[in-house]
Amino acid sequence: MRSIMVLNSKGGSGKSTVATSIASYYAAQGNKVMLVDLDPQASSLEWLSARPSGRSSITGFDGSAGHFRVPRNADYVVYDTPAAVHGRELSDNLRRAQSIIIPVLPSPIDMRAATPFIQKVLDNGRVARKEARVALIANRCRENYNIYHQLDTYLRKVRKAPFISVLRETQNYVRAAERGLGIFELAPYSVRKDLDQWDPIIRWLNSKRSQPLG
Ligand SMILES: Nc1ncnc2c1ncn2[C@@H]1O[C@H](COP(=O)(O)OP(=O)(O)O)[C@@H](O)[C@H]1O
Ligand SMILES: [Mg+2]
Repeated sequence: MRSIMVLNSKGGSGKSTVATSIASYYAAQGNKVMLVDLDPQASSLEWLSARPSGRSSITGFDGSAGHFRVPRNADYVVYDTPAAVHGRELSDNLRRAQSIIIPVLPSPIDMRAATPFIQKVLDNGRVARKEARVALIANRCRENYNIYHQLDTYLRKVRKAPFISVLRETQNYVRAAERGLGIFELAPYSVRKDLDQWDPIIRWLNSKRSQPLG
């Protein structure tokens, strides 16, 4: 079983968007996928309730109330998480994940907020021992936007976590989310650029680089 968690202390950075995209990707590949929503706002579960019945099924699970056990028969467990998780709650969450993706927005406020958060994740014992692996992605980027270059420089400096991709700002994510779909499930001609941007993320998730050492 693979467990993948999407984390950032800031709201609006794209955690639910990225988590639902990953869940729908693996479901569409024929895997048994559980989407565990640790956020009481339950965006991922709402997304799931909008999902058309003809699409590959994903099992939703409300994990916001604390202690729970994930059934062992899932191939992939994808965790969406709330904002502002620190301390004990953060280390409890990190214990559940093999692979952690942190989406960061290219704005000065978000970059500043992300810095100590990423450091806290990297300082976590399991992460430091590579029992859980971390990757960074930039989300909602407009490439002609100067701040993007700042984010690029900044994320590449976080040497212990690879900066694996940049997702552009596009209504495709909004449209997909409204319909309970992932970006991979929209008409291919409209999302070609986005699929190219997802390619390194999927490659990372499918590689040993995202999995516990040893
Ligand atoms: N790459 C993107 N392009 C356009 N809109 C996006 C993108 N990523 C996220 N969004 C939108 O931004 C808002 C916040 O994203 P969301 O995934 O809910 O963030 P979080 O879960 O971190 O709070 C949502 O309305 C979502 O549809
Ligand atoms: Mg969310």
